[in-house]
Amino acid sequence: MKPLIISSNASPQFFEDMAQKLCGEIAQIESHIFPDGESYIRILNDCAQREAIIIANLHQPNPKILPLIFLCETLREHGIKSIKLVCPYLPYMRQDIQFKSGEGITSRFFAKLMSQYLDSLVTIDPHLHRYNSLDEIYTLKSTVLHANPQVANWVKSNIKNPLIVGPDSESEQWAASVAGMIGCPSIILNKERMGDKEVLISPPDAKKFNHLMPVLIDDIISTGRTMIKTADALKSEGFQAPVCVGVHAIFSDGAYDEMKQAYISEIITCNTIPHETNMIDLTTLLSDEIKYR
Ligand code: R5P
Repeated sequence: MKPLIISSNASPQFFEDMAQKLCGEIAQIESHIFPDGESYIRILNDCAQREAIIIANLHQPNPKILPLIFLCETLREHGIKSIKLVCPYLPYMRQDIQFKSGEGITSRFFAKLMSQYLDSLVTIDPHLHRYNSLDEIYTLKSTVLHANPQVANWVKSNIKNPLIVGPDSESEQWAASVAGMIGCPSIILNKERMGDKEVLISPPDAKKFNHLMPVLIDDIISTGRTMIKTADALKSEGFQAPVCVGVHAIFSDGAYDEMKQAYISEIITCNTIPHETNMIDLTTLLSDEIKYR
């Protein structure tokens, strides 16, 4: 029997592409918010012994989580055999340690909650910084995919003579791999973050590369500070305005507008979070993983 494909806040285009590539049956769900703010859900498909694949956009997660839990509970009550969450951007990964005493390590809490309701999870470039693997916090079966080949293809097809720039040591995993796939040089800078919007990037000692087109690569663009400050550091070394490529287009608090005013020539993201900068499509990466493995 075909899997049931269900949207949980996915953008219509992303969901349609995924549903088509997965050749499943699109679930018919009735949902409604009552005047008191509580939600109603009803599933019209036959669920018995089937696999459900939920295509979710969990950016800005809090209001999306309770409806997702109710969806999973409803599916289970009606006999679904397994639930896979396809969540291209996995939230709650950055609080992975107690930075100050008394803090909650929300990455753990979120992982524990999701692991109760789901059988498996497929995601792209989650922010694995102090965790080596999602298995350290999730007890479900998780699959982590990487956007590097798609990012490398985009750079190859669109940028002449690129220099791949990783703004900080964490970004080396993406920057070095993308540069290797393209066959171009890369440099990694040093970043110090003092606060949400306070970022210091040391100017690179890279004047010998300043005839090349800098392409900044990072997993997340959130406040945009990392990209803006890296672009400024490159400017001071005589580079032209860089292209910024981020996997996940968070763009919090006017970050996109600030980046457009900065020393940046182009802003490109993957379609893990819907945004007008989405130029790199990852639906085939996701659907191939789900269909063939
Ligand atoms: C940091 O560890 C991440 O890899 C990104 O560099 C960071 O999340 C970007 O954040 P922002 O856009 O707020 O500087």
